[in-house]
Amino acid sequence: MLRLENVTKTFNIGSASAKKALDDVSLHVKKGDFITIIGSNGAGKSTLFGAICGDFFTDCGSIFLDGEDVTMLEEYKRAHNIGRLFQDPMRGTAPGMTIEENLALAAGRGGWLSTVTRAEKALFREKLSLLGMGLEDMVEQQVGLLSGGQRQALTLLMATFNPPKILLLDEHTAALDPATADTVIKITNDMVTENSLTCLMVTHNMQSALEMGNRTIMMDRGKVIFDTSGEERSRLTVNDLTERFSDIAGRALATDRMLLGI
Ligand SMILES: Nc1ncnc2c1ncn2[C@@H]1O[C@H](COP(=O)(O)OP(=O)(O)OP(=O)(O)O)[C@@H](O)[C@H]1O
Ligand SMILES: [Mg+2]
Repeated sequence: MLRLENVTKTFNIGSASAKKALDDVSLHVKKGDFITIIGSNGAGKSTLFGAICGDFFTDCGSIFLDGEDVTMLEEYKRAHNIGRLFQDPMRGTAPGMTIEENLALAAGRGGWLSTVTRAEKALFREKLSLLGMGLEDMVEQQVGLLSGGQRQALTLLMATFNPPKILLLDEHTAALDPATADTVIKITNDMVTENSLTCLMVTHNMQSALEMGNRTIMMDRGKVIFDTSGEERSRLTVNDLTERFSDIAGRALATDRMLLGI
């Protein structure tokens, strides 16, 4: 489904501030894989997603999406195959438009968004009700007025409205309060598993990393340093995971948010 072969990315190449954010990364993702990604600050997790989406071209290596070599393909040409969520709930939805207009956009419908048909309205309400956040009764509300959690749940629905080949979640619950984050995590899990989506999810929550999905990878200093699935993974505890990190990386696994306890 997704294959990265020896991908390296250096920011500010050739200057004193050059930073190798991805260092010879190879990763094979199978169709239907739900992979959680953990790693310290600056490990290269977001850069990995940037490379997949084509935010920039990599220094070397190759990227294949569903058999197609996309290494040199511009970002906008990859976008329709990729769903992506960021930490910031303000990204991914249009604040000045209503919920149904946003969904009409996500459904890929052209024409006047303000004339959402009755059939579309019914479909949108049905999909919204599955989120369990009461959004189905607010379809004409402007998205800018929603809470961060509601907005992130809506973004998730929009990103998967037409199932993408791959869904990339970059700490998409990190900016939410713990209770709302739990709700959005549950929605995510249901959505990914029920639709058998292929998904990569960056999280700083070690428990979620082990409980969700079928495989976990750990990144450090631009490299994938640990990749676990199957029985080995099912036996791992959070403690094992952090110990494994310090064994391999030679220092304790810590992120700002882990240190802050959020
Ligand atoms: N656009 C950029 N220009 C220059 N350096 C960058 C850029 N983006 C990322 N970097 C650097 O590349 C390294 C990897 O960054 P990246 O954002 O991928 O880390 P991360 O694993 O997502 O970290 P975090 O957990 O903090 O989100 C960092 O040292 C970062 O400062
Ligand atoms: Mg990041």
